[in-house]
This record gives sequence, C-alpha cells and structure tokens, in this order.
Amino acid sequence: MDIREEFLRFFESKNHNRVASAPLVPDDATLLFNNAGMVPFKSIFTGEIPIPSNPRATSCQTCIRAGGKHNDLENVGYTARHHTFFEMLGNFSFGNYFKEDAIDYAWEFITEVIKLPKEKLWVTVHESDDEAELLWQKYMPLEKIMRLGDKDNFWQMGDTGPCGPCSEIFYDQGAENFSGPEDYMGGDGDRFLEIWNLVFMQFERSADGTLTPLPKPSIDTGMGLERVVAISEGATSNYSSSLFMPIINKVEELIGKEYVYTTGASYRVIADHIRTVLFLLAQGTNFSNEGRGYVLRRILRRAVRHGYLLGFSAPFMYKLVDTVISIMGSEYEYLAQKSNVVKEQIELEEARFFKTIASGIELFNEELKDTKDIFSGEVAFKLYDTFGFPLDLTEDMLREKNLALDTAKFEELMLEQRTRAKAAWKGSGDDAVHGDFKELLEKFGENSFVGYESVNHSGKVQALLDEQYHHVEKLSSNQKGWIFLDKTPFYAQSGGQCGDLGELKGLAKVVDTKKFFGLNLSQVEVTNEIKVGDSVDSVVDISRNEITKHHSATHLLHAVLYDVLGDHISQAGSLVEADRLRFDFSHPKALTHEELVEIETRVNNEILRAVAGKTEVMSIDDAKKSGAKAQFGEKYGDEVRVVSFGDTSVEFCGGVHVNNTAVIGSFIITKESGVSAGVRRIEAVCGNAAYQHFAQQRVLIKEIQAEVKNLDVLAGITRLKTNIQELKKELHDAQNSIKVEISSTLLNGVCVVVDELVGGGDVKEKIDELKNKNEKLCAMLFQVKDDKVIIAAGVKGCDAKAGDWIKNIAPILGGGGGGRADFAQAGGKDITKIAEAKEASLDYITALLS
Ligand code: ALA
Repeated sequence: MDIREEFLRFFESKNHNRVASAPLVPDDATLLFNNAGMVPFKSIFTGEIPIPSNPRATSCQTCIRAGGKHNDLENVGYTARHHTFFEMLGNFSFGNYFKEDAIDYAWEFITEVIKLPKEKLWVTVHESDDEAELLWQKYMPLEKIMRLGDKDNFWQMGDTGPCGPCSEIFYDQGAENFSGPEDYMGGDGDRFLEIWNLVFMQFERSADGTLTPLPKPSIDTGMGLERVVAISEGATSNYSSSLFMPIINKVEELIGKEYVYTTGASYRVIADHIRTVLFLLAQGTNFSNEGRGYVLRRILRRAVRHGYLLGFSAPFMYKLVDTVISIMGSEYEYLAQKSNVVKEQIELEEARFFKTIASGIELFNEELKDTKDIFSGEVAFKLYDTFGFPLDLTEDMLREKNLALDTAKFEELMLEQRTRAKAAWKGSGDDAVHGDFKELLEKFGENSFVGYESVNHSGKVQALLDEQYHHVEKLSSNQKGWIFLDKTPFYAQSGGQCGDLGELKGLAKVVDTKKFFGLNLSQVEVTNEIKVGDSVDSVVDISRNEITKHHSATHLLHAVLYDVLGDHISQAGSLVEADRLRFDFSHPKALTHEELVEIETRVNNEILRAVAGKTEVMSIDDAKKSGAKAQFGEKYGDEVRVVSFGDTSVEFCGGVHVNNTAVIGSFIITKESGVSAGVRRIEAVCGNAAYQHFAQQRVLIKEIQAEVKNLDVLAGITRLKTNIQELKKELHDAQNSIKVEISSTLLNGVCVVVDELVGGGDVKEKIDELKNKNEKLCAMLFQVKDDKVIIAAGVKGCDAKAGDWIKNIAPILGGGGGGRADFAQAGGKDITKIAEAKEASLDYITALLS
C-alpha cells in the first residue's frame, strides 16, 4: 500500500486541498529547517495572512529535525524511530473544523484505510483536556486514554509561534517484541510507538512567553510516514522497513560485511543521514562552516565517522545516492535531476574529511588514555579546528564511552577564536523588525507597484516613517526617512534586482526602495517638507533602463547556462544592478575558457536576434505547464508573473525587463569564480556598462600603444622582449669578460672546480685537461653558446658520479641531461641562472665530499 498517497487521497475525499511539500529551508528566520507539516501554514494560523478560500489542507511535508528546537540528531541510529530527515503526513484546518472532526478523521483513516487493529491503539490527551478525552471515548475505553502534562501533550513549533494542547495516538508493538523497563504506555521505550499527533492549535507564543489566543482555533496534525510504513509492513523498527533496508543493504554490499540489527547502529546512522544530505543538497543548501550549511556538514561528517567505524577509508556515501533515489525519486523528481552534481559534492566533502579523520581519531584515542571522567576541552577544540571534527561528533564519540566533555573550556576557546575573527567584521544590526509595519499593513494593506507600465506616477503619501521605521506625520527638509505611497512606480529590491532610485518632484530624493513585510517603501532624503496626505509626483531614475537590461540579460544567461552546462545547474543567487549583474549557480567545477566564450557568444546571439519580451500573469499551474523556470524554495502565490523571450527563456519573475532583447546592446562576461563548494559565479555587464567596459579597454590599449611606441601592440611587445634578451646577454658577456682563469679548491684531497668557461675553448677538452693534471677531481663547467648553456662534468678518483651531479643542476637552467659516472653533459636554456646553478653545484659536491 502506498501510504503517502492513501493519506492524501483520504483527506482530499474530506474536501482538503492537497498542498505540495514546501522546501526544507523555510521562509522563516526563526527556524533552521522545516520541522513540521504546519510550518508552511504558520502565518495562516497566526492570522498574518488571510485564510485561503478552502480552509482545509493536507500535505506530505519533508522535515528535518537536526539543530534547532526539535533536534533528534543524537538519537538517530540508536532508537528505532528517530530520524534527522523524515516525511510528515498532515491534515490542517484553518479555523474550520476542530477537535471532534480531527479525531474522527484520524480514527477512520487508521482503522478503515490502513486497517491497524483497534486493540493495539492507545491515545494521550492533555491533562486539562476533558473534551478530547470524552471524544476519544467514542472509540476506546477510558483506561486506554492517558492524560499527560505540558511536556508530552502541549505542542509548539519553536520558542515562538502557534501552539496548543495535543492528543497523540500510539500503536502497541507488543510485549513479545519489547520488554524493557521503559516499555509501558507513556514510557521512553519503543513498545508504544507514537504514530500521529493531533494538535489543537489555540495560541500563539511570543518571545516573552505569553500565550495569545489565535483568531480561530485550528487543527494541525502530524503522522510520521516512516513509522506508519514500518508498522504496516510488520517491522518493529523504521529502519527495517522498505524505506531504509535497500540503503542498509547497499552499505553492506559496499563494505562486504553483514548488517546485524543489534550491533548495526552505524549502518542506520548512514542510512538516515544520506537522505538528509541528499535532500538538502538537491534543494540548494551547500556545505559550509556556518548556519544551515554547517548542520549539513556535521550530518555528513557524522555519517562518515560511522562509515570509518565500519571500515570505509574512502568516500562511499555518494554511492548511496542512487539507492535513495530508487526509493523516493518518483515522489521527489528533483532528486534525480540533481543527482550528478550532488554526488560530486558529497564525494568531495567526504574526501575532505577522510583526509583528517584518521589523525583526528588517533588524537582522540591518545587523549582517551589520559581521561578519567572529563575529556579535555582543548583537545576537542583542536579536533574541531585542525581536524574538522564538529563538536557534536566528538560528543557522540564520548557518549559511546560514557564520558563527559569539558564544554566550558571548549566554548572559551571557540569564543576567543570568534572574537578574533569578528574583530575586523562589523555586523549590520537590522532594527527593521521593530518598525511600525504591522500597523501600516492593518491600515492600508500592501501597496501596489505600478512601475511596470510607467516610470512616472502621481500619488498620495499614505504614511511616513523615520529612520528607525516609526510613524511620523511629516519629514522636514534635510531629514531622512521612508515614504509609503498608495501606488508606487519604484521597484522594491527583490529577486536579486536592486531597489529603484528617483525623486519625488521638488520634495525629496529617493535613494533606495525596499520591501518590508510586503510593504513597498522608498527611502528618501527630504529637500522640502513632506506631510502625510500630500500629493507627490514620483519619477523613477533613468538608471532603471540599465537595470532592466541587466535583468533580462540574467534570464538569457540562465537559459544559456542550462544549454551549455546541462540541466543540473540551478540558480543559487543573483544580483541585478544598473551597471552589473552577478549570477550564482550550482555547478561542480570551474568553467573553462571555451565554455565561457560559448556562453557569452550565445547570449549575444539572443540579443542580436532581437527577440521580443513578453510578460504574462497566469495561474501557477499554467505557468508550470508552460515549462517556466521557477526558483526552488521561492514562494509564489496562486497567480504568477511569467517573463519570456521567445522560446529561449521562460521564467517566473516579478522584476522589470526590456521589451526586446536588442535593447540590451551587448553582454560581456567580466569574471568567473567559485563562491562555495559546488557553486560558481558569473559576473557580467551589458548596455551602457558594456560600452563603458569597452571604452576603458580602448583607453588602456591606447596607453599601451604609447608605451610600446607601436600601433600594433603585440609587435611592440615582441620587440621589447627581444631587446631585453639582447641586453641580458650583453650584460652577461660584460660581467664575464673580466675573468679568464678557472678557479679550483681542494676538498678532502679532491680538486673541486665549478666555474664558467668564458672567452672560447671546449668544455669537454677543458675537463680532460683537468683530469690529466689531477689524481682526484670533481669538475663542472658551464659555457654560454648561441644563447644557450652547455654544461659538462667530470669525476676522477672519488665516489661522486658526474651523471647524478649534472642531473641535479641542469634543471635550474631549464634543461636536462646526464651521463656516466666519470663524465656527463647537459644543456640549459636560461643563461640568467648560471650564478644560481654554480652555487647549487658547489653545494651539492661539497655535501657529497664532506
Ligand atoms: N505539528 C505537530 C508535530 O509536529 C503535528 O508533532
């Protein structure tokens, strides 16, 4: 049975709207990851946004509980039911039905659709919830309904947000399978497995802890797909179900060792973590040293450590990607689309950690020998700082040995390091959150942007805010602040496009435009007093034209990147300004010169083809059907704006664009670089900025022409290079013309000669001559002939080998050669290095003879 599908269908049959899973990285700064099915609906529960036309929804939401409030990382692998990544099935009522229907639906689904035996089901309710208890008595005797306190039966999303008492449904997996001390209803053992949590959303918790009743009591439920699948397959651990066993089997195959449940925690950790890593990477989070990217790195390193315990000594996690895709790929199509890049990212990251893991573990084990109860904070810090062991990894390793860590010392060292790092960095305190935006929203709602059609608009000042974003009735001359117009032609910074500049005629200069909670506000520097209620004529700055060119060029670039590099690329960020654009995208390696030339040429071809631009507002479904590129994780309403240039580029976009690609003029890539592992960046200019770029290049060429005194700059430079060569040679000859005699020294009875033969003669003959004169000899002679260096070495009556000697020296002169023990010859190209070669030669032979 496909439980995911059965669940969604069941609630559709109860008039719920099926909603796709939202991204793992939520549109909510208070949360690290989406950790529950209700997160995407948070603002509907709290009343910040209106209840949709259908107040019932159902979803299968991908969740991560690692880092942040709901953190299950430590338990993963050691219990049968915890995961860092899992899928949560849920049904939601936004002020529509409440406790009774929620309980009835849950019972019907469990007992009639997936047909779990009624006698195995138990429930808990909040200790104060008589109503829920009574409702459950319809289905089970009172002794199977347990009342528990806030810890178990009061659910909240995070430290702030919607919350309420809840009722949990448990499945008894049988005393025959579980008989530990905690295996009673309400205990921590695995026998009674919580499968579904019904939350009766009634309050919103604010930062100071106060609970404010929600506008309308609502329902949020969450059922762990992995748990229900396991039960329905008769498995007593999620990991023994068809969602995980293929991954575990693949690990067995790779390492060639059999998985045994009781000792197989490492296999389970790996099977869990690969899913998290794959989903996060495929959705665009990258490995990093901070924030979400660091949680991702920690999870991968934790899995690699378990792999190391199993015996892996080289990257292996990336080899599990295809197995996960075979299990989940049909539900989450983007996994397969991104699989190649993701595999490369994982392999690289694994390889990095495999480089240090062995030394790290050695250091850890060394320290263990000296540890009684508390492991050294200094060593934990060294493991972190030098060997890349995240703190929780070290803690994990200590937990296995029942040891504690001197966290205070670790924190102290971390703090010291951070303070050092921060010294040069000044944060930009964002006090905008404390502004009067809520009041503005309540009074006026969001204002509309009229700047697609026109760059001039006459409108009314509805509100004014000072620099701290608080209401004021007027802004006087020379004051700065923010203006809220009923309709505004100024584009607020979003989707990478910068905010518009301009003026309020005769009153103020507009220096920026931004969106705050959906409100479009322009920042002004006032020249003549402005009051709320004034009529103003707004004019958008001419730089807008250049912004549109860069924005449209970004779309063309995006489309061309797909064609040239492949459809694994996805946008990872973009910046559009009047004089430049920047586009970040996932791609595993630096672009070659040929690729860049091709990309630039193709974009310019699209410009030269003069393709008409079109913008259409359509339903999200139609937009998706049209094949328009959407940004992963971007929130779109029911209606979206689609910008297209012929068949070349079709994208969801709210920005401003040219009406024909020819207007862009030309497109020049100025730089390609890497932003982080697996993410590349292209910077480019177009329109006037491209012209300026060329104009500057022309000035530069003129300056070079003047310097090299030749209109043909290449010919000029070649001539200069030849001159330099000639001068070098003259200098060399002049230096040597003063010298005639070859010098020799005596070292442990051996006559040593290392010198340059100047003023004619043959090096080989000279060496023979020296051999005739001396019983014991080591001689190396250099000679310049036709801009090249000839080297000869001779050895007599001692252990040195002429061939070896010359092999060591010739490379200094950019050459090579060799020969016998008593005589060797070589050639070199760089006559400027003779002095250096002589010195090295003398060092070599001195060391050998001493
Ligand atoms: N939001 C509730 C939970 O995550 C259903 O348990």
